[in-house]
Amino acid sequence: MEQQHDFDVLIIGSGAAGLSLALKLADHANVGVISKGSLTDGSTYYAQGGIAAVLDPADTLESHVEDTLNAGAGLCDQEIVKFVASKGKESIDWLIELGVPFTPDKDSNPPWHLTREGGHSHRRIIHAADATGKAVESTLETQVRANPDISLYEKHIVIDLITGTKVGLKTNRCVGAYVLDKKHNQVVTFRAKFVVLATGGAGKVYLYTSNPDVSTGDGIAMAARAGCDIANMEFMQFHPTCLYHPEAKSFLVTEAIRGEGGYLLLPNGKRFMDRFDKRAELAPRDIVARAIDHEMKRTGSDSVFLDISHRPASFIKEHFPTVSEKCLEFGFDITKEPIPVVPAAHYMCGGVITDKNGQTSLPGLYAIGETSCTGLHGANRMASNSLLECLVFAQSCHADILSKLSEASLPETLPFWDETQVTNSDEEVVVSHNWDELRRFMWDYVGIVRTTKRLQRAKNRVELLKTEIAEYYGNFRVTNDLIELRNLVQVADLIIESALHRKESRGLHHTLDYPELSDQQPKDTILRSKLNETN
Ligand code: FAD
Ligand code: SIN
Repeated sequence: MEQQHDFDVLIIGSGAAGLSLALKLADHANVGVISKGSLTDGSTYYAQGGIAAVLDPADTLESHVEDTLNAGAGLCDQEIVKFVASKGKESIDWLIELGVPFTPDKDSNPPWHLTREGGHSHRRIIHAADATGKAVESTLETQVRANPDISLYEKHIVIDLITGTKVGLKTNRCVGAYVLDKKHNQVVTFRAKFVVLATGGAGKVYLYTSNPDVSTGDGIAMAARAGCDIANMEFMQFHPTCLYHPEAKSFLVTEAIRGEGGYLLLPNGKRFMDRFDKRAELAPRDIVARAIDHEMKRTGSDSVFLDISHRPASFIKEHFPTVSEKCLEFGFDITKEPIPVVPAAHYMCGGVITDKNGQTSLPGLYAIGETSCTGLHGANRMASNSLLECLVFAQSCHADILSKLSEASLPETLPFWDETQVTNSDEEVVVSHNWDELRRFMWDYVGIVRTTKRLQRAKNRVELLKTEIAEYYGNFRVTNDLIELRNLVQVADLIIESALHRKESRGLHHTLDYPELSDQQPKDTILRSKLNETN
């Protein structure tokens, strides 16, 4: 039996962006939330450092704005930066009202402990020890599960958006999505007045990443196939410090450790960051990750080291319990010794272009959170500005949708998913092999330091994979891995294409062929639907 579900608003993704939006809309609209794993499978749950907001009376909005613009290397949209910074306090107040257990500091006013991270000139990161994301996501999850006006679809993966053009409507707008119900192995049609992509990042396009398995760039790929404008995909952020251990799966070691005095050391025990930037360990992330990459190549070492052991053990255990415990599992005691760290892919600064309300270039479709490109991060995101962006855009998106809800209507019917031309796959190995190949050449050729020749090599390989995957997709029934692989290859293509376009080094994009900043480049790298041939 074919199934169809109807909603005022369909939210794809259940991280900080998706769940915040669902809670804000629930009293006023009929809301569905789709999540490809369980609700908490996403980057939000793993966030460590915290959320940036001007809370200390000695701090100023101007300073938060200036630091964000500096970290963004000239590409941030100043108006958006001001907008987001100005909404910091109310966003945090909302979380506190919901019950997020931020780390207190009774001697401060307001009574929260604020930490520091790279690029910030003040202490302005509110946090729940080093497990801020877990505290935020669990609180949102509890609220959402208790809300009868929100319908949850876990273990459902969206395959593609449904647009007016695709289904022969007079106007082109997003009207729903085709979704694989993984439990029943059945494709279901969701009809909605408004669809919101809150699908998170794309770290899984690289072999080594701090991101969880769900971060395969699905929202960006789906939006690109639906004809949306995508920007700045060359700016993949590499987090400088992930634990170096064969079984640690690039476990993130929070930047707040450097914020609280941690040093980066070479294998010979010497500090090196002051040779690269006067802010040393607290320079913005692009600078620190590049410096580590440089030193590892220069010295031929497998990692550098992070050392906080000069701080009292009680302080370390109180502020960094998650990191301390995880390191102990791998045989490192951070209260006593330096730990080996390496950079890994962490955050996609580019994404689906939106306005201040999360509206994309396709009517009816919004994008919020990491999947969007709002102009906040420019060429390099400043630490802890991401969760803030999720909260601020959930609020503005909710207000915009509510202002349009009464005029919007659902299309009468939508065609069901057509499976008449496909059979079950008998070659799943092709999917897993292509996954591996893609992530490996992206790491080798499209990493922290690039060259045109390496990018071109990656481009040639991505073209082959695109053809192979399109053929596979045309012949076989969809599975979770095939859907993700199709999206990963499209996102890889967008990253490579954008990197080839930018003929300068700026922020997170560093190429040996154009090592300097250039004022001749267009500000943003905007890719329009010419890349949509895998549609
Ligand atoms: P996510 O939380 O990633 O959620 C994405 C959701 O979309 C998931 O529910 C996923 O299942 C769903 N989804 C994706 N594709 C589909 C599909 N096709 N169908 C159905 N569902 C789909 N930022 C900070 O500001 N401060 C920090 O301290 C911080 N620490 C971090 C630490 C780590 C280890 C990581 C990985 C990131 C960190 N970040 C931090 C970044 C920040 O956590 C993320 O950018 C942010 O949480 C993204 O939230 P989101 O709601 O956009 O996406
Ligand atoms: C961290 O805790 O180092 C991650 C912070 C972020 O990505 O903003």
